Amino acid sequence: MPIQQICTVAGMTRLDASTWWMVLEAGKLVEEHGLRGGQFLHIKCGDGQLLRRPISVAYAGWDEPEDLVTLIFEVRGEGTRWLSRRKVGDELDVLGPLGNGFDMSKEGRYLLVGGGIGVPPLMEYAERSKPPKAAVLGFRTKDKAFPAIVSRFEEACEKTCLCTDDGTLGYHGFVDGQVRDILAKDNSFTDILACGPRPMLKSVVKVAAEFGVPCQVSMEERMACGVGACLGCAVKMKDGTMRHVCKDGPVFRAEEVDWDG
Ligand SMILES: Cc1cc2nc3c(=O)[nH]c(=O)nc-3n(C[C@H](O)[C@H](O)[C@H](O)COP(=O)(O)OP(=O)(O)OC[C@H]3O[C@@H](n4cnc5c(N)ncnc54)[C@H](O)[C@@H]3O)c2cc1C
Ligand code: FES
Repeated sequence: MPIQQICTVAGMTRLDASTWWMVLEAGKLVEEHGLRGGQFLHIKCGDGQLLRRPISVAYAGWDEPEDLVTLIFEVRGEGTRWLSRRKVGDELDVLGPLGNGFDMSKEGRYLLVGGGIGVPPLMEYAERSKPPKAAVLGFRTKDKAFPAIVSRFEEACEKTCLCTDDGTLGYHGFVDGQVRDILAKDNSFTDILACGPRPMLKSVVKVAAEFGVPCQVSMEERMACGVGACLGCAVKMKDGTMRHVCKDGPVFRAEEVDWDG
């Protein structure tokens, strides 16, 4: 059950001109309300913005006196610009926990696939989950592959492959090309967990299906209420129904989604 919580900004680190690493003191949102990585918080971004903005949880930790929650976000418009101007000690009005997160309850091996700002929501799954995992992380260019994030995957995963669109770091190309190379050698993964922009998800899902590997995807849609009360975030499913990304997702099984809808 989501609650409204006033959180204090405990850390604010600028990763580059448009990307921020924010740590919130979040009351007992983690310990008592079960907030975890891959879920999201719906954040009020100043009095001028009617709608809250959804930001994924990269890491949720039980701490004293308050739980600490890490958010990593990119400035896209007015709401995230307002968020980037917060200072340590400022207060934020957040709604959460929201959304479901990935399922790693089955034993086996997992392949984590993240693109751009879709990488941080996989961080906690890399570090906290017991099953062995490999990671494929894609970025536009080398400067966007922040060591503070990438190193956490490299330490936690048996193998971490980096890709850049411009070839300045790692494999030259999109993540689905790297996923194809990996699955061609070994398709014994229990599940692929993918987070990133919709075109990336669609390509990864196609490759996963070719090799018969099941896939979970975290979908990003524009949101309004964040709690299933409007149709702001509806996505079309293969069976013709519409599902809410905020309430039924953001993580869905890939085979449920109508990728052409
Ligand atoms: C479940 C979920 C989790 C998210 N997690 C993160 C995160 O961890 N880090 C992060 O940086 N961003 C995340 N986002 C995206 C973030 O919510 C948007 O960038 C933000 O709401 C934009 O608000 P704004 O006022 O800054 O920009 P606006 O002025 O509202 O929009 C600026 C531009 O971004 C586009 N845009 C806005 N929202 C979305 C969206 N949801 N999907 C695709 N395009 C959008 C608009 O079409 C416009 O072109 C997440 C979105 C969802 C739905
Ligand atoms: S944003 Fe209103 S139903 Fe999802």
